[in-house]
Amino acid sequence: MGNYSIVVLDFETTGLSPDYGDRVIEVGAVLIQDNEIVDRFQSLMNPGKRISSFIENYTGITNEMLKSAPPVAEVMERFASFISQHHLVAHNASFDRRFLDSELRRINLQRSQEFACSMLVSRRLYPEAPSHSLESLVNYKKLKTTGVYHRALADAEMTGHLWIGMINDLKSSFQIDAVPFSVMQSLSKISKAATAGFLKRVAEEQLSQAISSAPRTSASRPRRNEAPAAETGQQPTARKESKAMKVIAINGSPRKKWNTATLLEKALAGAKSSGAEVEIVHLYDLNFKGCQSCFACKLKNGASYGTCAMNDDLTPLLEKIAAADAFVLGSPIYFGTVTGEMRSFMERLFFPYLAYTRPPTTLFKKKIRAAFIYTMNVSEEMMAQNNYPVHINLNEAVLARTFGAAETLCSFETLQFEDYDKVVFSYCDPHERKKRHETVFPDDCRKAFELGERLVQPLP
Ligand SMILES: Cc1cc2nc3c(=O)[nH]c(=O)nc-3n(C[C@H](O)[C@H](O)[C@H](O)COP(=O)(O)O)c2cc1C
Repeated sequence: MGNYSIVVLDFETTGLSPDYGDRVIEVGAVLIQDNEIVDRFQSLMNPGKRISSFIENYTGITNEMLKSAPPVAEVMERFASFISQHHLVAHNASFDRRFLDSELRRINLQRSQEFACSMLVSRRLYPEAPSHSLESLVNYKKLKTTGVYHRALADAEMTGHLWIGMINDLKSSFQIDAVPFSVMQSLSKISKAATAGFLKRVAEEQLSQAISSAPRTSASRPRRNEAPAAETGQQPTARKESKAMKVIAINGSPRKKWNTATLLEKALAGAKSSGAEVEIVHLYDLNFKGCQSCFACKLKNGASYGTCAMNDDLTPLLEKIAAADAFVLGSPIYFGTVTGEMRSFMERLFFPYLAYTRPPTTLFKKKIRAAFIYTMNVSEEMMAQNNYPVHINLNEAVLARTFGAAETLCSFETLQFEDYDKVVFSYCDPHERKKRHETVFPDDCRKAFELGERLVQPLP
């Protein structure tokens, strides 16, 4: 987590705002150290007035229960020592912060710690979640729960598990070694579109610090977006010493020698340098269609359950991927997302493995690494402004959920034309583009090579 501890807290209250005289009636909190809950605090509090029947029904806390509870001031004194100087976290923190500050003021204390909001962070980290309410996130992330909601300690405990889960997801998805509180705070403030770029910068800064302080070994390289085996029920593919691993690249660009294909070849070269057998397949060479919605892959006891029943040029490729030890997809960005051929291919690859259970599970039997390389005309900033990360992050999440682990590489402001003099083009300076192709693109190639090396690393 980082070298700090936090208190995750939750208040039940008489109403929505201390500005209208509302008071706290219950506090619950957990202390997290080293990403583990190590202590808890819970108490009902007598606010000195009756609570409404709505609040009684909502929380299960009755006027009867509050009658015998200690006064708010007494509990808040003890709670102030529990939170001590720890950073504070709450779900929808502005609500709890207002009540905490108001109650502390009433006993002549003032909060000095920083607050972070788990709901705001979760919106950036899990934009695809159906909702970011605590209950919905608990279901979505399959977090530990007693099933009790709107009681302070139960809510604080679930928020604590959410926080720990987000820290773990950040570490595995973005190669972030330690997640300082300041990173979580920044995450809750930046725009969703800027999130991927921000996290990438954090990871790069940490990586360059690690590189400058210790020699890097391929075994110690951080991995991204790895769903734990326990979650997916998949078996890790152990690195085979005797038999070479098979890695397949799938090129979703119509051009077989340009940016996307070049980066895919580099990734394969990286995998090959680590002993893998490699192959590249160009989708535009194949005759195939996207998913026909026949649902043969979903039929109970169906012969094709979990596999695509269509028979065309994609059939042998899908079989190869099922037998592979890792694979990497590559696509240019066309109108904000992958090319049409890549999209059709993804439907055919992903859908048969999707089991419509609640929550959805994967029917892919192994656990292997996957990666996606994108090339595009725009800069990294424009990519974020244009919301490309919505598709890119979703694709990475689907790959990780379906196959076990996934990572993404983007190459920006690529060289698009052989000779810019022959085309109508005033979008940017062609000389700058050429220069970038000579200076920055080789670095993208190096990153692709390293991605290929990582593809053949064993999964935990
Ligand atoms: C039909 C088409 C649509 C494109 N749309 C976008 C786009 O929306 N955003 C972008 O950044 N680049 C766009 N591009 C540029 C390509 O993504 C970029 O040049 C890419 O690197 C081409 O990959 P390739 O060299 O492997 O063919 C588009 C190119 C074409 C041909």
